[in-house]
Amino acid sequence: KYKLFIFDMDGVITETSEQHYQAWKQLANEIGIEIDRKFNEKLKGVSRIESLERILEYANKANDFTEDEKLELATRKNENYKEMILKFTEENLFEGVKDLFDELKKRNIKIAIGSASKNAPTLVRLLGIENDIDYIVNPAEVKRGKPAPDIFLKAAEHLGVDISECIGVEDAEAGIEAIKSAGMFAVGIGDSKVLNKADIVYGETKDIKLEDLM
Ligand code: BG6
Ligand code: MG
Repeated sequence: KYKLFIFDMDGVITETSEQHYQAWKQLANEIGIEIDRKFNEKLKGVSRIESLERILEYANKANDFTEDEKLELATRKNENYKEMILKFTEENLFEGVKDLFDELKKRNIKIAIGSASKNAPTLVRLLGIENDIDYIVNPAEVKRGKPAPDIFLKAAEHLGVDISECIGVEDAEAGIEAIKSAGMFAVGIGDSKVLNKADIVYGETKDIKLEDLM
């Protein structure tokens, strides 16, 4: 039935959510803002510049910075984040991901990465899964980020697969919303209370059972 799996990257195939959180926390601290893990849920899946906007709004500081200053802050966060992921290797791939990819390929199901991250191609290379991936969506090429459906629709369109034959896999609220508004089947990774709009939720990526889904 399904011909394409579109995986989010951060928090689904590798643990970069923590690094994103730490990098934002540090940046926020530098401008006198405290963020916690609960607030961080609202940043997952959200683009770099939109994440910064949300942090500034949260602290009522949205008007304290010019657009240039905001760009500088977002770049500073990314430089810090890039340093954190510099040493990533195949070891950083979540358990079960490689097996899942192999299983999908055996069934002739295509694999795409639908991440909001501009660092996705770098991470895919570091994680050693370049050859498993049929397509990485470039978030700069779509109009709207998650929770809009654009990233997921782009993957389906590029690979010529009908929406009804696509499954999206996400760990973020914004991501599940994006998959659902694309009209696709949504697999959540994480807490089913947080991801209550997903069609099915697994605690971790390694828990995904293709038999449940096909
Ligand atoms: C998403 C992450 O995958 O990518 C977000 O969940 C992150 O936390 C976003 O902000 C953008 O990533 P990047 O690497 O382009 O700053
Ligand atoms: Mg994610």
